[in-house]
Amino acid sequence: MIKYKIGNQTIELKNSETKQGKGNQKGKAPSGSVVDWRNTAETSRNIDAVCKYILNKDKASGSTSFKVVDAIARAGFWSAGFRNVWPNCQLHINEFEKECIPVLERNFPDDKITHFDIDKKAVHCDLAFLDFDDFTLKKLEQYFHRIISWSNICKYFIIADSACFGFKFGNMKHYGIKTEEEYYFLLSDTLEAHIGKRVTVVSKFNNSAIVLFENPTRRKKDIKFIPPSFITLYKGKKLHGNYIIDTTPLF
Ligand SMILES: C[S@@+](CC[C@H](N)C(=O)[O-])C[C@H]1O[C@@H](n2cnc3c(N)ncnc32)[C@H](O)[C@@H]1O
Repeated sequence: MIKYKIGNQTIELKNSETKQGKGNQKGKAPSGSVVDWRNTAETSRNIDAVCKYILNKDKASGSTSFKVVDAIARAGFWSAGFRNVWPNCQLHINEFEKECIPVLERNFPDDKITHFDIDKKAVHCDLAFLDFDDFTLKKLEQYFHRIISWSNICKYFIIADSACFGFKFGNMKHYGIKTEEEYYFLLSDTLEAHIGKRVTVVSKFNNSAIVLFENPTRRKKDIKFIPPSFITLYKGKKLHGNYIIDTTPLF
């Protein structure tokens, strides 16, 4: 049994469900296993930062009526992060692949676990999380239907965005922009035009970024970037209420 600790939550995986060792770093599981090697500390501190931003802003999110859906949960690392921030929330965890269901049921015995295709239905909730494999603005068309149907029926909407790879390898020319900051403004403008929500928080880590969309009460300049260096470089500063705009690529 392998244990991953995310805050107060533990995810236990049988050896057969995980590939150990330093994996391919993409977080993709090889066939036959649910997860590859995972740097949970890195992912969960970013999820934690974004969830705590919501918690600080919206005290009602701490209540038992706050409904959170992790719609493509795989092994449930993100779910564990949400449960850690919102111990009392109604957590609904969904995953398409059958092999993941026993893992989710074992680790989240009190939560609602389902197994449907997110392209066929979306669920009403306060907060929806879609941890896409390889979403970037360039692939918007491919992801459009899911984004529209899920974001339409929630107050907060979080997706994973992989554009950081484009910046790492200097391949952002197709967007006609130069900086990562510009990319998120572009993403925000594009999705506002289609789904009526704006990007308010971006939390980057090595292989992805967690992007929060909210109803557009904030102005463009108010996007908050929480880079992975935040916690180490700005140690000692308050994480919430003292955000620092820093889009320096770290890798
Ligand atoms: C990047 S993984 C999510 C990882 C997850 N956040 C975790 O913590 O382990 C994306 C997941 O989406 C699932 N998925 C892809 N398309 C789906 C669909 N149409 N309906 C439901 N799940 C889907 C895949 O099976 C995969 O497990």
